[in-house]
Formats: sequence, C-alpha cells, structure tokens
Amino acid sequence: MTGLSDSFQRPINYLRVSVTDRCNMRCVYCMPADGICLIPHQEILSYEEIQHVAEAAAELGISKVRLTGGEPLVRLGLPKLVQMLSRIEGIDDIALTTNGMLLGRYAAELKMAGLRRVNVSLDTLKPERFDAITRSSDKLSVVLEGIETARKVGLTPVKLNTVVMAGINDDEIVDFARQTIDEDWHVRFIEQMPFGADTSSFIPASEIRRRLEPLGELEPCHYAIGNGPAKYFRLPNAKGTIGFITPVSEHFCFQCNRLRLTSDGKLRLCLLADDEIDLKQPLRQGISQAELKELIAKAVASKPERHHLAENHLPHNRPMTQVGG
Ligand code: 5AD
Ligand code: SF4
Repeated sequence: MTGLSDSFQRPINYLRVSVTDRCNMRCVYCMPADGICLIPHQEILSYEEIQHVAEAAAELGISKVRLTGGEPLVRLGLPKLVQMLSRIEGIDDIALTTNGMLLGRYAAELKMAGLRRVNVSLDTLKPERFDAITRSSDKLSVVLEGIETARKVGLTPVKLNTVVMAGINDDEIVDFARQTIDEDWHVRFIEQMPFGADTSSFIPASEIRRRLEPLGELEPCHYAIGNGPAKYFRLPNAKGTIGFITPVSEHFCFQCNRLRLTSDGKLRLCLLADDEIDLKQPLRQGISQAELKELIAKAVASKPERHHLAENHLPHNRPMTQVGG
C-alpha cells in the first residue's frame, strides 16, 4: 500500500459512499416537502460496482468507509454490501450514517456483516418537534429504540448528529448536553450549512458553547474513534461526550481526509464543491483495476483546497440528499 495524498499533501484515507438518494424522511433543512428529483434506478451503482471501486481505493490507501444516503438503510440488502466491503483487504473500519428509522430492524444483521459503528441524526428530543422537523409522524420513539438496539448489539460508540437551528431546536442544546452526563451519549452539534433558501436559523458553535456554560467547564477530550473533524469535550464527570462540527464558522478543510462516491457513481472531491469525476461509465465499460486506480488517483490529485462558503459559493449540481453529508 502506497498511501494516497492530494496535491496539498493531505493524506486521503476515508471514502464516504452514498448508496442511495432515497430517504424515508423529509427533514426540513435537507429536502423540499414534495421531495427531490430522484436518480433513475439504472443509474445507481450496483453493490458489485461499489465493491470494485472500494477495492481499487483500498489498494491506493483508503482504509475507512462510511455508508451514507439519502438514507442508506432504505436500500435493499445493505448488510450484504457491508459484508462485501468488510472482506476487502486494507479496509479496517466500516461505519454508517443513518436517520435511525430502520436501525432497530437491521442493527444486529449489520453488526454480523462487519459494520463497526453508527452515527444517527437526532435533532430534537421532543416527539412533536421531531415529527415537524422530519415531516414524519410518531417516529422519535422508533429512532430512540433503534439507537438503543445499535448500542446493545455493539455498533459503538453510537454518535448522535444534531444540526442546531435557531428558533427550531436551539432551546434543546442544554437538554442534549445533559444527556451526556449520565448516559454514554456522544452528541455532536453541527453548524447548519446553507443549503436551501433559509439560512436565518444558523447558530455558530461559539454560541452553542456559550449556552452550555451553566453546565460546567467543557474539558477537551481526545476521542480516538472517528475520522472526522469534530472537536470533543466532556462535562465534569460525564459518561458521554459533546462534539462540535464547524463547517461554517471554522472550516477544517486543511485536514480533510475524504473522498465521496455518489450513488450514481461520481467521485466527488469536496462536499461543498461541484467537482466530480465519473466512474460509472468506465466501470460499465469494463475498466481494469489498474485503470480504475489510476482514475481515482488522478481525481484525488485534483481535490480542491477548501470550500468557499465564506465567499458565498455553494455547490449547484446536487442537493444534500445526493451527497450524504
Ligand atoms: N447542515 C449541516 N448538516 C446537515 N445534515 C444534513 N443537512 C445539513 C445541513 N444543511 C446532516 C444530517 C446528517 C448528516 C448526514 O448531515 O443531520 O446527520
Ligand atoms: Fe433524509 Fe437525512 Fe435528509 Fe433527513 S437529513 S431528509 S433523514 S437524508
């Protein structure tokens, strides 16, 4: 294995694979109420095609894979894909980001297939508010049960992703943080990125931290498990941790270690930039493993240095649902 790095000398060892653009929720910050234009089924990579890409990527130095969506668990037979990926030499960490709705049903099977851990999106602890944010009905208890099942079967640590939005769930920041005291909760507060029209609900992480001051001093903790940019802290004597992800107020592009594969087979070089390289057509034309590796390495070499949200540059070619965070 050679180790893969981009033209800014950043080591690239992490591949996020969006397995579908479909979702069984309609979160307000992610999807318009009437849904989005869906990618036709025949354009979606098969599990064998994803495996092919992952094998080539692993030979280049990718060692960590995360499955995302849409909602990855709405794709049929996802444990099968986990099993295929877990057999690839060099891949030592497979994780999943999910909205949790189907987690109770699949957690045990996923664990057996080789999944290590899950991140679950959870923006509120209030049932009615949960239904309003996700445009669903009576689903908070289903998701909380899913989280518990994941913990029981050992898909740990279970991390919770909380997008903080002013006037929507910012009054729950302290409630979420309090949960980490007695429970082994790993809550990550995420700054809302400006997708969609309304960005008036943005709250910077500095403000979120300020609101946590009454709970006591946050001690930095080096939380070893993970590949991402979150900075972790612990409240005094707390069992769990509190993380902050600051894509907007303090970008972490200088330490970006990731590539993304979209469900229609494009290698996307940055979450927040339109640059993509098509792998689907070459795959379907029978590209060899060596050529595929060359194509991926070439794509990595053109990875942009950073996003340009501060200059108001947003990606235009895909909604968030197709990139998977
Ligand atoms: N800003 C920040 N995070 C977002 N997510 C979805 N949309 C946004 C946004 N606009 C998060 C979800 C999920 C992850 C995949 O991305 O909460 O946890
Ligand atoms: Fe679905 Fe996730 Fe988007 Fe919510 S944020 S609609 S759960 S893809």
